[in-house]
Amino acid sequence: MHADTLELTLEQAISRLPNISPKNLTDATLETYLTELYALGRLRHIPNISPANSAYLQAILTARQPAHILEIGCANGYSTLRFWQVARAWRAQIVTMDLSKPPFEEARHHFYATGAVADIELHHGHALEVLPTLQKPPFDFIFIDAHKAATLDFFVRARKLAASDALIIIDDVLKFKHKMQRFYDYLDANSITYRTVQIDADDGIMLIDLSEQP
Ligand SMILES: C[S@@+](CC[C@H](N)C(=O)[O-])C[C@H]1O[C@@H](n2cnc3c(N)ncnc32)[C@H](O)[C@@H]1O
Repeated sequence: MHADTLELTLEQAISRLPNISPKNLTDATLETYLTELYALGRLRHIPNISPANSAYLQAILTARQPAHILEIGCANGYSTLRFWQVARAWRAQIVTMDLSKPPFEEARHHFYATGAVADIELHHGHALEVLPTLQKPPFDFIFIDAHKAATLDFFVRARKLAASDALIIIDDVLKFKHKMQRFYDYLDANSITYRTVQIDADDGIMLIDLSEQP
């Protein structure tokens, strides 16, 4: 975290967000809540996916309509809620996790506040310990956005839970490529094809479609 980060307790963060409840949730109130959650996240230097990335991922989700979504690294739950914002239309089940307790607790709050908790299974812990315990494979859509240097380990472990035609997306693959060299080398060594997309000025994502692999 940066020295000028806005440090807030969970209660203080919640107090800066609109009141929301699953009972009165509408598309508009959810959008307002998420927009403000993102703005607050910027002030707190929470590395949430950008609006352009969110829109791109939502478009992919809407086109593919995966029944089971897996996310590694949810932070305060913002990206998970952006997935849920579209995937609730077809009642996709989402499994997500975070290693760090404060963001995990905040994510849990937002999932209850919005009612997304009905569709989201949230785990606290190291992904490499959580993934082997999951009961809901195969996942059709997997988003990896955690400790960048461990991306290869997350990918290899998550792939065991993936459907044969799953789409696996890895975030921040351009600006943090130097931290992911092991991962890039593994893809090349195993002839795994991938596509990188520059999402905005900040960074881009990698798409690996398992149905296209040898
Ligand atoms: C870039 S942030 C995730 C942002 C989130 N996907 C979003 O866009 O709203 C990365 C998160 O991964 C978590 N993380 C790092 N290593 C992890 C691990 N081994 N297992 C689970 N979570 C991890 C961190 O605690 C952090 O909250």
